[in-house]
This record gives sequence, structure tokens and C-alpha cells, in this order.
Amino acid sequence: MYLYVTTLAKNLPLMNFVSAIPFFIYLMRHPIVQRMMMPSLKAKVGVGKIKGVVGQIVGQRFGENKVVREDMIQSFIKNGLTQGEIADEGMLQLFAGSDTTSTVLRSGLFYIITNPRVCTRLQAECDASGVPLTEIISAAKGPTLPYLNACVKEALRYHPAGTGLLPRVVGPNGDYHEGKYLPPGTTIGFCGWNVFKNNSAYGPDYSEFRPERWFDADPERLARMEKAHDLVFGYGRYKCMGEKIARIELHKAIFELIRRFNFTAVDAMKPFDQYENHGVFVQHGLWVRAEERVPKTKE
Ligand code: HEM
Ligand SMILES: *[C@@H]1O[C@H](CO)[C@@H](O)[C@H](O)[C@H]1NC(C)=O
Ligand SMILES: *[C@@H]1O[C@H](CO)[C@@H](O)[C@H](O)[C@H]1NC(C)=O
Repeated sequence: MYLYVTTLAKNLPLMNFVSAIPFFIYLMRHPIVQRMMMPSLKAKVGVGKIKGVVGQIVGQRFGENKVVREDMIQSFIKNGLTQGEIADEGMLQLFAGSDTTSTVLRSGLFYIITNPRVCTRLQAECDASGVPLTEIISAAKGPTLPYLNACVKEALRYHPAGTGLLPRVVGPNGDYHEGKYLPPGTTIGFCGWNVFKNNSAYGPDYSEFRPERWFDADPERLARMEKAHDLVFGYGRYKCMGEKIARIELHKAIFELIRRFNFTAVDAMKPFDQYENHGVFVQHGLWVRAEERVPKTKE
């Protein structure tokens, strides 16, 4: 919409570069630099235009003829956020929730449809779930399907939504990591690729897309796996605020697509048109042939 995705993809390399270098972060805090660099509300397309639209939508919820609806904006109002804070929150959620979820959905679907064992087992579970084809699976039902759950977890593990270091600062007493002393004030971070695709957490078959691992791991291994998985949405005070929504979206979309279609990748050698990593990923394509299937529902 309004070339938001296109413009964002164009600007991500610069944003990623600037955010990685402390001097540039310092510079970006200066009001004059901000005015020059930040998207303009007067823009006809792109991030500035969306910022304008978000501002308008939030504006309708304040003032004399304010609209009252049961949604996230209303919840923010109830919790005492100001109009400006809610508009910022809206932009943050658009940015934080779109490319992240779509990356995991796209790559997750790809790993499922290219693993016939996984796809067949998932289709069988979807068919047996008793959700009529005239309905979309509810948010409550999704997590009750064990194999679907395992597929979503494996998708989140196998291709992280982002690989930013998510920096944290060591507290006043210092700390230790694997025997190495970290003085107070040290900035630390972790690389998602390594933590989620690592033999020490996931065992020798860490590089395989295998949802079954979430069932057949021994308790000690499973505990290590869950601990690593806890980091997928970050940790602590700045943990992802959209985890619940993201998991609902992934459960619903994967369930409904997989039970309704047989997919084949059109070009197995080049499944995505474009593939770049700027902290979050920019992907296009995933061209598939889709054949509508008739689920073998248990009546
Ligand atoms: C698969 C999808 C997603 C993944 C893997 C993901 C992951 C993350 C991670 C790793 C962080 C940084 C946490 C940290 O610094 O420790 C984060 C922050 C955040 N995410 Fe997500 N996210 C996803 C989807 C969403 C969605 C759908 C929304 C909103 C609707 C959302 C909203 C946010 C917000 C608002 C923050 C900033 C929280 C703060 O700084 O207080 N995310 N996310
Ligand atoms: C797993 O992570 C450890 C560091 O914690 C590293 O030494 C090891 O090489 C990693 N394994 C793989 C396969 O990347
Ligand atoms: C879908 O795939 C399954 C096996 O993977 C096959 O038995 C079935 O006939 C296919 N359905 C359609 C409509 O192509």
C-alpha cells in the first residue's frame, strides 16, 4: 500500500548500516539530522505517507466526534497512552510485525512443502481436526494441534525473522559468559542464526527442518532447545510485544493453506526471487503451483 514495502526495502540497507554504528546513532538523535533523514508526512508514497495515514486513523479516536471501537488502539487509550504515543506505537507495530512474520511464514511454508513427510503428516492432522472448510481455524484451536505447533516452532527456529544483535548492557556487577568476564557497561548481543541452528542446543541434526524433534528429544535436550527457542522473540524488558499475534497468524495461515492446497515449488533451485538480509530480511516471490485438494475430513 502506497509503496510502503518497496520504499522500506530500499531504505533498509541504510537503516541497518546507521543502526550498527554508535556514532551514527548519536548523530540521528540531533533534531536537525532527524528532520533531514526522517520520512516526511507530506510524502505521497512510502513510509511518510503511511505515517500520515496512521496519524489520521489514530486522530479519529480522539476529540469531539471520536470513534470508539474494541481494538488495540482502544486498549492503548484505556491504558493512558497519548495520541502521539499511539501513532508511534502504530508505526512500530507495522514495522516490527510485517516483514518478520512474513519471512517466517514464507520460509516455513517453503520448508513444509518441500518436505513431503512433513507436509503429508501436517495435512493429515489438519484434516482430522474437524474444522469445517467453511470456517477458518480459531486462535484457540491452532495451538492444540501438536504437529502444527511443532511446524510453527521449527519454522521460527529454522529461519529467524531477523538477525539483529538485540544489544543489552551488562549491569553494574559485571557478568560471565562461558567463563569469560564481561565488565559492567559492556554491550553484548547474540546471533540468531547461530543460537537457533546450533548443535549444542539442537543436536547433530540441527541443520535439518524436522518438526518431530519437538516430540522425540530427550528431556535434557528438550530443555536446551526450549531455552534457545525462548530467544526467538527476544528476552526480558524489550521482548517482542507481538509474539501472541505472530503465533496466531502463523498457526492460522499455515493450517488453512496446507489443508486446502497441494503446493509444489515452481523453481526448486531459486525458490525466492530476491534474498537480502538487512537485520530483517527482504524476500520476494516463492512461486508455487497450487492444486486445490479435497481434505479427507473425518465426519
Ligand atoms: C514471527 C514474527 C515475529 C518475530 C520473530 C518477532 C521478534 C521480535 C524480536 C526478536 C524483538 C526484539 C526483542 C528484543 O530486543 O529483545 C521484537 C520486538 C518487537 N516486536 Fe516483534 N516479532 C514478530 C512479530 C511481531 C508482530 C506481529 C508485532 C506486532 C503486531 C510485533 C511487535 C513488536 C514490538 C512492538 C517490538 C518492540 C518491543 C519493545 O521494544 O518494547 N512483532 N520482535
Ligand atoms: C554452536 O555454538 C557454539 C558457541 O556457543 C560454537 O562454538 C559452535 O561452533 C556452534 N556450532 C555450530 C554448528 O555452529
Ligand atoms: C495432493 O497430494 C497427495 C499426496 O501428497 C495426493 O494423494 C493427492 O491426490 C493430491 N491432491 C491433488 C488434488 O492434487
